[in-house]
Order: sequence, then structure tokens, then C-alpha cells
Amino acid sequence: MDTAPSYPYDFIDEVLFTQEQIEQRVSDIGAQITNDYRDSEKLLLLGLLRGSVMFVTDLMRKVHHPLTMDFMSVSSYAGNVSTGFIRIDSDHKTNINGWDVILIDDIVDSGYTIYTIHKLLVDRKPKSLKVCALLDKVDQHKVDINIDYLGFEIPDDFVVGYGLDIDEKGRNLPYIASVNLEKYYAKKV
Ligand code: PRP
Repeated sequence: MDTAPSYPYDFIDEVLFTQEQIEQRVSDIGAQITNDYRDSEKLLLLGLLRGSVMFVTDLMRKVHHPLTMDFMSVSSYAGNVSTGFIRIDSDHKTNINGWDVILIDDIVDSGYTIYTIHKLLVDRKPKSLKVCALLDKVDQHKVDINIDYLGFEIPDDFVVGYGLDIDEKGRNLPYIASVNLEKYYAKKV
């Protein structure tokens, strides 16, 4: 029996998406990708660590077509602020030249991460390149980007769970919830 409390952190405000809602949406996106790439001979799901790890591993099980999985490790946030400076901590291993690549991230906020990595990948000459994100803070974009496969649009709340964190806390929550930043920072000092 799972005895975990549903709110293990007192800075959790509200559950925005339950485990069931996430599963359903991931399944839908998987079906869409399965259909769109039915003729692909080299399909690569390329996740951006670390936030996308749950999303990628769940999504790949819902894509019913041969594929390869790879990751890049990038970071952009300091605390709860998206810095706009994208650091690549480790690069993907696959030579993506000639591959159908789907770049996957957990959340698009300012858009700088996807914008920067997308540009970098285009130079590496994949056969095709699409973007998939679980969450999109559409009103926060600072650059022009296109998301081909999207889970959910969200308002400008700070969110944790299903891979997303605040100072590394909350990544293992099976749902996505908003954070009460006042409570969070009051507790910290
Ligand atoms: C987060 C998130 C995205 C990015 C989105 O990563 O996973 O990659 O920020 O923000 P942006 O659209 O403003 O660029 P973070 O730097 O927190 O690293 P993490 O994935 O290890 O949590």
C-alpha cells in the first residue's frame, strides 16, 4: 500500500495536474508521435536533463515505433529565476545527422532553453527537428519558438513535481503542483 502523504511539502499550493491527467496526456502525445513518425527509419527522442527525465521515460513507452533515446544536460534556472543563460553540462552521444529528432523538455518558460538548443541542433543537420514540451508558460516567452507537441499550457506559477523542482525539491512528486513562494522563502530564512 502507498502510504505517502499527498502533500509532503508545506509549500505546495495546489495540484494543477494529477497523476492520471498526466498519464492520459502523455499517452495522447505518444499516439500522435507514433502516427506522425510511422515512416521514420531513425527516430530519436532527445530529452533535456534533468527536468524531462520522467516525461521522456513515460513518453517513450507510449510511442509504438522503434526509437533511440538520448539526453543533453542543460541548466538555466538559479532558484526560481530563469536566467536566460543556458549552460550545456553534457552533450548528446548520438550523431544526429540524418535523424528525425524530437527535442523534449518538461517546461518552456522564457523559451531561451528550447530556442538555444534548437538552434544548436539545426546546425548538426538532423533530417527533421520537432519540439515537445509537457508544460508551457505561454505568456512568459521572451523569444519566438514553436512547440509541436504540448502537454498543458499553464499560467505563470512556479511548479514542481513530475521531474520539476524548486532547489532540487519536489522532482519525485507524481503530480504537478504550484508552489507558494512566500511560504517557501519564509521557511528558508
Ligand atoms: C528548466 C526546465 C527547462 C528550462 C525552461 O531547467 O527544465 O529546461 O528550465 O526555462 P526557459 O524556457 O526559461 O529556458 P533547469 O535549468 O531548472 O534545469 P533542470 O531541468 O535540471 O531542472
